[in-house]
Amino acid sequence: MQPLLLLVTFILLQGDEAGKIIGGREARPHSYPYMAFLLIQSPEGLSACGGFLVREDFVMTAAHCLGGSINVTLGAHNIQRQERTQQHITVLRAVPHPNYNPQIIRNDIMLLQLSRQIRRNRAVQPVALPQASKRLQPGDLCTVAGWGRVSPSRGTNVLQEVQLRVQRDQKCSGRFESFSSETQICVGNPRERKSAFRGDSGGPLVCNNVAQGIVSYGDSNGTPPAVFTRIQSFMPWIKRTMRRLAPRHRRTADSLSRAQTNSRGFP
Ligand SMILES: *[C@@H]1O[C@H](CO)[C@@H](O)[C@H](O)[C@H]1NC(C)=O
Repeated sequence: MQPLLLLVTFILLQGDEAGKIIGGREARPHSYPYMAFLLIQSPEGLSACGGFLVREDFVMTAAHCLGGSINVTLGAHNIQRQERTQQHITVLRAVPHPNYNPQIIRNDIMLLQLSRQIRRNRAVQPVALPQASKRLQPGDLCTVAGWGRVSPSRGTNVLQEVQLRVQRDQKCSGRFESFSSETQICVGNPRERKSAFRGDSGGPLVCNNVAQGIVSYGDSNGTPPAVFTRIQSFMPWIKRTMRRLAPRHRRTADSLSRAQTNSRGFP
């Protein structure tokens, strides 16, 4: 079965009802203060992804959301409105994982260094990342939030949430040829019509208040389970990258021209 990347392009999904988290409900406004909405401009056009704040100056998302330029909105509930809680920030650098493989969708993780620090408040706060010691278990209950697709012309576009259970690795390895239990998590009970779907790419899987996964791909009709990037297995790279791009380097980086934003293949 052809896996479907869960990002969304505006062109593809005109009038398509399948664009939201499936089987979810509207989230209580600002109950996911780490949620980021990403608007991506690339030669193919505009697209949208989810992301999540992991530090005052870093948002995490999926590597397949990489585009020419990315704008981040934090503190949003309805992304079609101008809410007073919203903070709009441009991306200084996009750092996809150096081993991201778009053919088989492995290592689908990316860090976005923001052009300035966010203002931390009730509506905007980072989420915790996993400890090295505790691995997720099948049956663990987690939450995924996302705006699903965005149509410039219609839709409510309020943040949706859904609760999903971690599945045994075999549920995904039997279904997706390139599934790797080392670096990926299998999520969503096949007997329930609940899943992340198009437009939710890059959003977090949060279990016990810790971001454990990143929405990566699923099958084309949205039947669970879906595949999430296992954040825990990337912690050394995440720490190294955020340390390397520490704030003291920002002043020089800030003065670089906008053309150098999103340096593809930054090591
Ligand atoms: C991102 O924000 C900048 C500055 O506010 C704006 O000029 C640009 O058009 C925006 N890009 C997208 C893709 O929304």
